[in-house]
Amino acid sequence: MICVIIRAQLGACMTLKLGIIGAGRIGRVHADTLTTRVAGATVWAIADIHAPSAQAAASEFGIPAHTDDPAALFELPELDAIAICSSTDTHTHFIKMAARAGKHIFCEKPIAHDLAEIDAALATVAAAGVQLQIGFNRRFDANHIRLKRAIDNGEIGAPQLLHIISRDPAPPPIEYIAVSGGLMMDMMIHDFDMCRFLLGEVVEVFAMGDCMVDPAIGADGDIDTAKVMLRFENGVIGSIENSRQAVYGYDQRVEVFGSQGAASSGNRHANAVTISDGGSVRRDLPMNFFMDRYRDSYAAEMAAFVAAIANDQPVPVNGDDGRAPVVMAKAGLRSLRENRPVRLAEIDGAKA
Ligand SMILES: NC(=O)c1ccc[n+]([C@@H]2O[C@H](COP(=O)([O-])OP(=O)(O)OC[C@H]3O[C@@H](n4cnc5c(N)ncnc54)[C@H](O)[C@@H]3O)[C@@H](O)[C@H]2O)c1
Repeated sequence: MICVIIRAQLGACMTLKLGIIGAGRIGRVHADTLTTRVAGATVWAIADIHAPSAQAAASEFGIPAHTDDPAALFELPELDAIAICSSTDTHTHFIKMAARAGKHIFCEKPIAHDLAEIDAALATVAAAGVQLQIGFNRRFDANHIRLKRAIDNGEIGAPQLLHIISRDPAPPPIEYIAVSGGLMMDMMIHDFDMCRFLLGEVVEVFAMGDCMVDPAIGADGDIDTAKVMLRFENGVIGSIENSRQAVYGYDQRVEVFGSQGAASSGNRHANAVTISDGGSVRRDLPMNFFMDRYRDSYAAEMAAFVAAIANDQPVPVNGDDGRAPVVMAKAGLRSLRENRPVRLAEIDGAKA
């Protein structure tokens, strides 16, 4: 049942009407963004199987309707698009339902953990002729965009090395990890995408990882600390470093080194103040987590999604872009298990 709090006067304007599924961490970020920072979009309804979450988000962000039955959203003729922000294990089910209902789709990463399941969902989307954008928001971050421009413009010559540091301030709850697919599928997937965004396709990965932060994560069969080496199709050698816990906050740094120089981006801080005294030169900690550090990128990715649909243009991060990092994560997991470099062709022969 859909509970309508307010009847908004939407009129016959060009506004894209969205429904959001999932009112957890990222669902709330997108609800906030779409209701306050993205022109040409409005959130009509929000659904979460945990009814109080849907209700609280609707009330906080002024969303007219909320429900604990996500299927009800697909019945709403008012909706042009669905933003899927629920747990990863629900994504392909909702993608297929939305596509069959003729709704455009924004879906959070990763699409799923299983390639056959992803392919079935992408086939349904293609058959329905709707758009699907995947939530790789870091592509819309001003720092990462400038790095890419430096590479593409030849400002650092021929790229040779890439290093990505990506550390969270604290692990998510164990219940989240259980359905997330673990560190490589859930967290490093963003860094795998960043590799492709900056430098193109990767052909081989070699992963090492361990559980150094929380034994409960290890007991659940996951790791919380990892380093992965990567070989790109264009010859670049890369590395990604992940930790689920950096005590000083969200640590997001990237460096690309080339024949004519290097381009690097650092952490973002809430202020730019440096305090110098007789004992040290210091500053405040970086922004604590993704909701703050990447706030602008979430607005930019949603603005791009809305613009693509309004102008009938391809979305900037499509289903294939969602699938490719899942192949990389699977190669990383096999490498970890078998303690050897793994070529992506081993995982996805037909596409490699
Ligand atoms: N792009 C990013 O920066 C980013 C950041 C965080 C999470 N994510 C992704 O977003 C998704 C959600 O992550 P989160 O951190 O918000 O998790 P979360 O656990 O905080 O929230 C998930 C929500 O989905 C709801 N839910 C679960 N099953 C549902 C169902 N069948 N129907 C409706 N609602 C359902 C839960 O009740 C919960 O409120 C994950 O796929 C995650 O990988 C992306």
